[in-house]
Amino acid sequence: MILPMKELSDIGLVGLAVMGENLILNMASKGYTVTAYNRSTEKVDAFMAGRAAGKSIRGAHSVEELVKSLAKPRKIMLMVKAGAPVDSFIEQLIPHLDKGDIIIDGGNTHFPDTNRRVELCESKGLLFVGAGVSGGEEGALTGPSIMPGGSKAAWESVKPIFQGISAKVDDGTPCCDWVGENGAGHFVKMVHNGIEYGDMQLICEAYQVMKDLLGMSADDMHEVFAEWNEGELDSYLTEITRDILKTKDEDGAPLVDKILDTAGQKGTGKWTGVAALEMGVPLTLIGEAVFARCLSAQKEERVEASKVISGPTPSFDGDKKAFIEDLRNALFAAKIVSYAQGYVLMREAANEYGWELNNGGIALMWRGGCIIRSAFLGNIKEAFDNNPALKNLLLDPYFQQRVEAAQAGWRRVVAAATINGIPAPTLTSALSYFDGYRTARLPANLLQAQRDFFGAHTYERTDKPRGEFFHTNWTGRGGDTSSSTYNA
Ligand code: 6PG
Repeated sequence: MILPMKELSDIGLVGLAVMGENLILNMASKGYTVTAYNRSTEKVDAFMAGRAAGKSIRGAHSVEELVKSLAKPRKIMLMVKAGAPVDSFIEQLIPHLDKGDIIIDGGNTHFPDTNRRVELCESKGLLFVGAGVSGGEEGALTGPSIMPGGSKAAWESVKPIFQGISAKVDDGTPCCDWVGENGAGHFVKMVHNGIEYGDMQLICEAYQVMKDLLGMSADDMHEVFAEWNEGELDSYLTEITRDILKTKDEDGAPLVDKILDTAGQKGTGKWTGVAALEMGVPLTLIGEAVFARCLSAQKEERVEASKVISGPTPSFDGDKKAFIEDLRNALFAAKIVSYAQGYVLMREAANEYGWELNNGGIALMWRGGCIIRSAFLGNIKEAFDNNPALKNLLLDPYFQQRVEAAQAGWRRVVAAATINGIPAPTLTSALSYFDGYRTARLPANLLQAQRDFFGAHTYERTDKPRGEFFHTNWTGRGGDTSSSTYNA
């Protein structure tokens, strides 16, 4: 069907890489007229002659031509590499735009950059939206999850297009809603990516345990992931793992076995970990997932080390079927911990930056279209619907009951991995967090004593009100002067 081309385009899109092209095609398929622009204009011509041909898409060969083709308030979405290219396009656009026009950055931008750009654009009378877009190339074409934040005044103009092209959950609710001011949208997308790192690493650990401890083949594991995808672990990442495991190379051997074990990363997981460290939030699972990628990248060093450092030879003589069920429980419980930690980080960021994040709304945005989409996000939405002020997902009655039911299996998996020398950093660290979170008295009393012993850092006492600080002259050689009690 050829859709009518409007005289002025509804939106312009800059950056004709795969995500940009697919978003344009998605918008055109929903009846919008879109102007496509790219710095190297041959790409514009190739797109217009190819995938855009016959659609409500017009090409522009300059920023001026792009701006002139747009209906007011103009909406220009940048799908260019995060960082300097975004600043460069903003600078090029500003002189051509009028008050109230909207620049949208749909890349994986670090949220402090979005904070800065919102301020810059608003100071020029323009509006700026930083929108996280998830779902890869297929999502961009058929319905991504979109997490917009920035200048709130832009939302009414952008909303119909974004909600029109986004994924929808079963009842038709779009996986796109206003997230909050300044960099809130990009912050939430960053946490999404951190959780994506965690979910992927958890699956990889389950895979290594099945392969190295249970001696399972790729085909056997394909069956397990297929079964898991029918239950609580139903998710896009479980589904693609199932499909990856059955994919064969030209010689008929599993392709996954031929892929070098060094992971790449573009930095969004690291940003999530850094944000957590800066805000003092224990985001242990995502942190371990980032470090697991870093360790994987030290391939040559690991190969050398494997020749000189010995450890146990994995061996399993238990009930395989029961252990696979333990593994399923371990994955599910650790996943709950990961999302619980991610939500705590978002709560802290909301406090720090003055955002009003809608936790249930975020779960709904992630429910469809994005890389971490899963049935489980429906339960998270319910948890926040039942109690919008929920402090930690582990305290929600449903999740509390599920983790309690899963924990025996989870502990057996962590113990077996440890005894057999199979690294399982996310499964293990999630369990330590879980045990730490449910422990009323941690050994930090001793730690405070140590700090006071060597540095007169003072401590609070169990038999005195909070906020009163004490110092002991532990050795008899120190003085009575204490250091200050400030906390970073
Ligand atoms: C998404 C993805 C997407 C991209 C990641 C990959 O939500 O669609 O998260 O943004 O795949 O940036 O990140 P790494 O290269 O760091 O794995």
